[in-house]
Amino acid sequence: MKTLLIIAQSTAMLLMTLMGSTAYAASPGNAVVNINEASFSCIRQMTPVRHFYVDNVLGNIDATLAAANAPEGAIYPTGSVVQLVPTEVMVKREPGTSPVTGDWEFFELEVDETGSKIAKRGFIDVNNRFGGNCFACHLPAKEKWDFICESGHGCEPIPIDHKMTGALQRSDPRCGEPALESGDTMALFKLKVMVSLGTAKKWFEDLF
Ligand code: HEC
Repeated sequence: MKTLLIIAQSTAMLLMTLMGSTAYAASPGNAVVNINEASFSCIRQMTPVRHFYVDNVLGNIDATLAAANAPEGAIYPTGSVVQLVPTEVMVKREPGTSPVTGDWEFFELEVDETGSKIAKRGFIDVNNRFGGNCFACHLPAKEKWDFICESGHGCEPIPIDHKMTGALQRSDPRCGEPALESGDTMALFKLKVMVSLGTAKKWFEDLF
């Protein structure tokens, strides 16, 4: 009886493994996500979701939007690109690329009128310009939200509010003329002061 149970269990496990690998083989995740400097351009040409922007380099924007708008959270599809500010990007790589980061690759960009340069890219070891580790900060949002922090997903809040991130989006140098709204100049000025006084840097350092 015990042997039978073990056989039944192993058969079930084998079936699950086979089904799992079939699903994997059939998933559009087999497409290769090629990312280089030319992959990034004006943030405002991406699709806005609440206060951030999304895209999908494999053309699967509907699935990316569905994940971003899922009220209880969802796993973003392969090829998803997510940005809050022009210089920081998360890209969903091929399934199995980096299980620990949920297959997200983190990018720190340098942007100017001529385009984007990739300053840093990687999985668990990319730090932003304030010395904060992308993966460590986004990790609390892993469950349910697939590492997307927004507000209330468990990540430590950043000292930059949505007025400031909005102003950064509207003044992305890759978009041509800034499309500033009222209050943006003040928000950008405040941000500049915070960075130059080291308030933002100190704040990020205090987290670790
Ligand atoms: C100090 C912690 C911290 C660090 C370090 C950090 N982030 Fe975030 N990130 C956040 C928080 C919190 C938000 C949500 C902010 C909001 O919308 O209020 C966020 C938002 C984002 C978003 C928009 C989607 C989302 O999760 O809300 C992207 C994309 C992103 N960060 C990428 C990066 C990348 C790439 C790096 C490293 C180069 C990085 N972040 C470093 C905390 C951090």
